[in-house]
Amino acid sequence: MARVFSGVKPTADVPHLGNYIGAFRQWVALQDLHQCFFCVVDLHSLTVPWDPEKLSRRSRSAAASLIASGIDPERSVLFLQSEVQEHTELTWFLTCVSRMGELSRMTQFKDKSRGTENESIGTGLYMYPVLMAADVLLYRGELVPVGDDQRQHLELMRDIAERFNRDFGDTFPVPDAYIPAEGARIMGLDDPAFKMAKTTERPNNLIWMNDPPEVVRKKIKRAVTDSGGEVLASPDKPAISNLLAIYSAVSGRPVAEIEGEYQGRGYGDFKKGLAEVLVDFLDPFRRRYLEILDDPAQLDKILDAGAARAREAAQETMHIVRDRIGLRRH
Ligand code: AMP
Ligand code: TRP
Repeated sequence: MARVFSGVKPTADVPHLGNYIGAFRQWVALQDLHQCFFCVVDLHSLTVPWDPEKLSRRSRSAAASLIASGIDPERSVLFLQSEVQEHTELTWFLTCVSRMGELSRMTQFKDKSRGTENESIGTGLYMYPVLMAADVLLYRGELVPVGDDQRQHLELMRDIAERFNRDFGDTFPVPDAYIPAEGARIMGLDDPAFKMAKTTERPNNLIWMNDPPEVVRKKIKRAVTDSGGEVLASPDKPAISNLLAIYSAVSGRPVAEIEGEYQGRGYGDFKKGLAEVLVDFLDPFRRRYLEILDDPAQLDKILDAGAARAREAAQETMHIVRDRIGLRRH
């Protein structure tokens, strides 16, 4: 049994399909085998301008989305990051072993700060990967299930863990990324060159997990396709390959089998089939999600219990860490 840790930012009311396929789907499966910590990383949401009312609403709804996706709060520790103060404390210690060079190389930082003068780039955005390293190391996490966009942050996390262990003695396991072979990067429906992303202002880019059936059908109908008409996954067909990856992930069927089913039938038929598969898949999520939000007392109970369990594990680690780095009297 390994210790698994992962997190999701509460930057929208519900996750999108890419979050589910690239991350949550793996989280749900890992709970059967491992000790899992799943965290709504609200502190990470502060790295870009935020609205306090929206943030608190979205933190709750992100937790509800995880439960609706199949996270079982009895088996897994489900909690809000800001309710375990050790995250911020360990972040400071790790800040002091991280380097400007490595943080400056992060492509996510470069992307998000592109076009902004150095003078006014938020420091939080720059420090983001250190907070993320602290999240995992705080629970001495060994396995980190994430989508492909987090690969580089995971590498940095490993470097920080190794440096800390070298300088202060073996303290943290060096965590491994757990990135699915298929579906780790779901692309936008309106442009397969860019990943499906929550911050998008283009409504046809993504499918929200609570999109009603008519919206799902419309978005799939409008999804861009490639030239030609054959339903085949290949590098020169990025749009159809992406739709096939989605179809495969939500139906649990291999891509080759789906290609076989739509051989000689064209994009129109394929899109209709995909829309129905998605509608059937999203329906139980939507119902469960609304049910959970309808019972705020129960959700609070779950989050309270999660924070208490997380705190216990976090305090145990911090006790050792403080001692190792000399923050003690003797
Ligand atoms: P975030 O919403 O950025 O906190 O992401 C939560 C999880 O979803 C992370 O593990 C991401 O790597 C994953 N994720 C986000 N967008 C996508 C995408 N388009 N395809 C696959 N995984 C994704
Ligand atoms: N940075 C991750 C994202 O944008 C979210 C995250 C924060 C995370 N802390 C983490 C993921 C720790 C895995 C482990 O998706």
